[in-house]
Amino acid sequence: MTDTLSLDAFAGILGPKGIATDPDDIAPWLRDWRDHYQGQAAAILSPANVEEVAACVRLAAERGIPLVPQGGNTSMVGGATPPKDGSALILSLRRMNRIRAIDPEANQAVCEAGVILSTLHDAAEAAGRRFPLSLGAKGSATIGGLISTNAGGTQVLRHGTMRGLVEGLEAVLPDGSIYDGLKPLKKDNRGYDLKQLLIGAEGTLGIVTAATLKLVPEIGIGATAWFGLASPHAALRLLRALQARLGPIIEGFEVMAEEPVRYVFDHIPDTRPPITPLAPWNALIEFDLTGFGPDGRERLETLLGEIIADESLGVMDAAVAQNETQARDFWRIRETIPEAERAAGFPIAFDISVPIEDMPDFMIDAAAAATARFPGTTATSYGHLGDGNVHFHVRAPRDVTDRAAWLHSTGEEVRHFVHDLVVAAGGSISAEHGIGQSKRAELGRLASPARIGALRAIKQALDPQGIMNPGKLIPLASEG
Ligand code: FAD
Ligand code: MLT
Ligand code: ZN
Repeated sequence: MTDTLSLDAFAGILGPKGIATDPDDIAPWLRDWRDHYQGQAAAILSPANVEEVAACVRLAAERGIPLVPQGGNTSMVGGATPPKDGSALILSLRRMNRIRAIDPEANQAVCEAGVILSTLHDAAEAAGRRFPLSLGAKGSATIGGLISTNAGGTQVLRHGTMRGLVEGLEAVLPDGSIYDGLKPLKKDNRGYDLKQLLIGAEGTLGIVTAATLKLVPEIGIGATAWFGLASPHAALRLLRALQARLGPIIEGFEVMAEEPVRYVFDHIPDTRPPITPLAPWNALIEFDLTGFGPDGRERLETLLGEIIADESLGVMDAAVAQNETQARDFWRIRETIPEAERAAGFPIAFDISVPIEDMPDFMIDAAAAATARFPGTTATSYGHLGDGNVHFHVRAPRDVTDRAAWLHSTGEEVRHFVHDLVVAAGGSISAEHGIGQSKRAELGRLASPARIGALRAIKQALDPQGIMNPGKLIPLASEG
């Protein structure tokens, strides 16, 4: 536990608004979104600016006190949950929530780390631009957390992950020094790219305090369509057919098996199927038709008619949203799947990628293999097929009454089984959520010695005391 003198010293830096020590105020931030991990911390530090972050980190380094950077606490891998021994303090960026500047001409926004994603969406829209990364947690996830997990979401197909959207970065390194890289230099070859090293570092190499982010033009004419499909193979064929005929105007291409979609209708109020009957597989597609001019929508509808008529593609049904409300309703179904799955009782969740062209086979074959190996289980997937990344979920047999006990006895075996299939397919065990605490041991088991050696060497070089987000990402010595 952190001693009282140290807490007083942090309070001296931050003032009364910048430190919470009341257990009731701290409690909600000690548990992860998936409800798997319970941490302990004597205080939450909430600096108001980069200088205060730097002063806190210097003090923490002097006294050897570990810090856990935290934004919206929506991590899917326990990344922002402090260790359970109470040795660390949480350093929350939520008070640093200013959008410092938006420049529509340059297509850039400078945001502090605690800006919530949907706040940036709204501000960009008010400036006639948009920030092209979105995900279901947009009402809570912060820019600092999105950068630190190199988040993906539903527009990666066209705009890439966070890595491609960060043009400049400000951060505090583990010794308390400030890295001021906010200037958006298009070309900069001064050796290792510290900005890229910090993106996706999960708070283990420093604290992101602000970023210069890329904006793009608003969609002038758009369309949202829901397709019913026979298989994930049909979904990939559909994507390729659309890309061949329309060019790179597909913003998002999300694919969902029937089961997770049904959880949404069962658990999320005011949701209904866009097509009936619901197909075994479903694709939600967002088009940017701006470049096609005023008859873009008509052109799309004609093309969709041809595609539905082409039996070789395997499209069973389709609905194009008739207005913005309907488009939002379609997207709400996709975006609330995690919440619906939570309400239905968490499955064993995998966030995996394999080469895109191999993904349809993987989705079918891995589900068949897992359910054969663990009789009574069900396995389905949904997600970002166009990026070669899906969320593959295995559920306990329906007749299991004590799911926690089943997870305890069988969970690790299921995780090993599915991850081994992913590795055999040349894929990644973490496509977008990161490693955090939940996949650290699996990374240790499965990653090459070269990868783990480099991770450890970089961590040791930048954070020799190991005070930044301990227990996350880097496998322990016993883990590989
Ligand atoms: P936290 O959860 O607070 O932190 C995440 C990690 O970043 C932790 O390791 C933390 O220590 C570190 N961190 C946080 N802030 C900083 C900082 N300023 N400096 C250094 N380190 C920091 N992810 C996707 O990629 N795609 C999705 O489609 C997607 N959908 C989601 C849907 C739901 C409903 C939920 C709950 C999560 C989803 N996620 C998705 C997970 C995603 O990783 C997080 O939503 C987001 O990236 C984390 O932001 P946060 O502010 O909540 O960070
Ligand atoms: C998503 O794509 O919805 C998220 O990454 C969260 C998840 O379902 O795992
Ligand atoms: Zn996802």
